[in-house]
Amino acid sequence: MKAVILDAEDRYRVVDLDEPAPGPGQVAIRVAYAGIQWGDIMVRDGHFPVPRPFVPGFEAVGHITAAGEGVDPNRVGEPVTALTTAGACAEVVLASAELALGIGDLSLRTAAGLGWAAPTAYDLVNTAARVRPGESVLIHAAAGGVGTLAAQFARLAGADRIVGVVGSAARADYAARFGYTRLVLRGELPAGPDDEPFDVILDPVGGPTRRSGLDRLAAHGRLVAYGNLATYEPVLADANDLLMQGRSLLTYNSNLLSRTHPERLADSARRALGLVADGRVQVDVTAEYDLAELAVAVQRLAEGAILGKSVIRVA
Ligand SMILES: NC(=O)c1ccc[n+]([C@@H]2O[C@H](COP(=O)([O-])OP(=O)(O)OC[C@H]3O[C@@H](n4cnc5c(N)ncnc54)[C@H](OP(=O)(O)O)[C@@H]3O)[C@@H](O)[C@H]2O)c1
Repeated sequence: MKAVILDAEDRYRVVDLDEPAPGPGQVAIRVAYAGIQWGDIMVRDGHFPVPRPFVPGFEAVGHITAAGEGVDPNRVGEPVTALTTAGACAEVVLASAELALGIGDLSLRTAAGLGWAAPTAYDLVNTAARVRPGESVLIHAAAGGVGTLAAQFARLAGADRIVGVVGSAARADYAARFGYTRLVLRGELPAGPDDEPFDVILDPVGGPTRRSGLDRLAAHGRLVAYGNLATYEPVLADANDLLMQGRSLLTYNSNLLSRTHPERLADSARRALGLVADGRVQVDVTAEYDLAELAVAVQRLAEGAILGKSVIRVA
């Protein structure tokens, strides 16, 4: 089969590999599209140490072609969206059957817009922060994969003030269609506490943004840390101060959840899929590339040149 590898010199190359066969609890999927996400940049740049050569691709959409031991053989032929640990940038990928979700009548291309971002955004809003009707929510990286979905899930949860933070005016214009009350440019967000506290802050940025976010929380507010876009520097908070102010610092890690409680992640992914399928939540696939263009796709995402979701067309 054709596949892309990331080699020891950090180059992406299309190569021929043997087709993998599913082990117990796995399915093989003939890939139609692989989704691109921030994790691809982290692997390319060495923030996720992986053995090289590495076949990238953390999300695949396609049809099940084989079922491993313990998997219902009737699933062969089913169109699915799968959360994978690697390998989706190939003609065939293996996935846990539990994390390969049937997409029903949803188009393969639309389903490719969901990826890890959809269960992550769903969980940030509904499982971690537990947004309540009438609450206010601040969303960083508001125009991105997770951000655009989180805004919509927050709106469905009844949030009435949803403020997004973006890197440019063009990204603010784009994000406006996903239900934000207001969008602010990253440089214009006051560095300290201001007169606009939030009940919930979704923070994939880290560093000073995370520290000042804690000061920006209302009483009983929750900040969910789920990424380190800006920096991995430690963020220190005094638990006793947080207690006195009734503020909480939470974390969310979908990758870890997929290993410890895959059924929970699958449940959230299924709920997100259902909301997309019935038209209550939009995913926006805006950029499509060939397998051989993976390097370009990852670089454009890293440069902030992408509005919406990028996918690699495999079949
Ligand atoms: N914990 C989990 O379970 C989990 C799961 C999925 C994703 N994530 C994390 O969620 C984040 C978003 O992932 P994604 O795949 O959906 O990517 P994305 O949001 O589509 O792209 C990331 C966006 O973040 C913004 N950004 C980049 N550098 C930044 C910086 N230094 N400070 C603030 N914002 C910056 C850029 O938009 P602007 O220029 O408009 O700000 C960029 O487009 C990543 O950190 C990823 O690792 C975590």
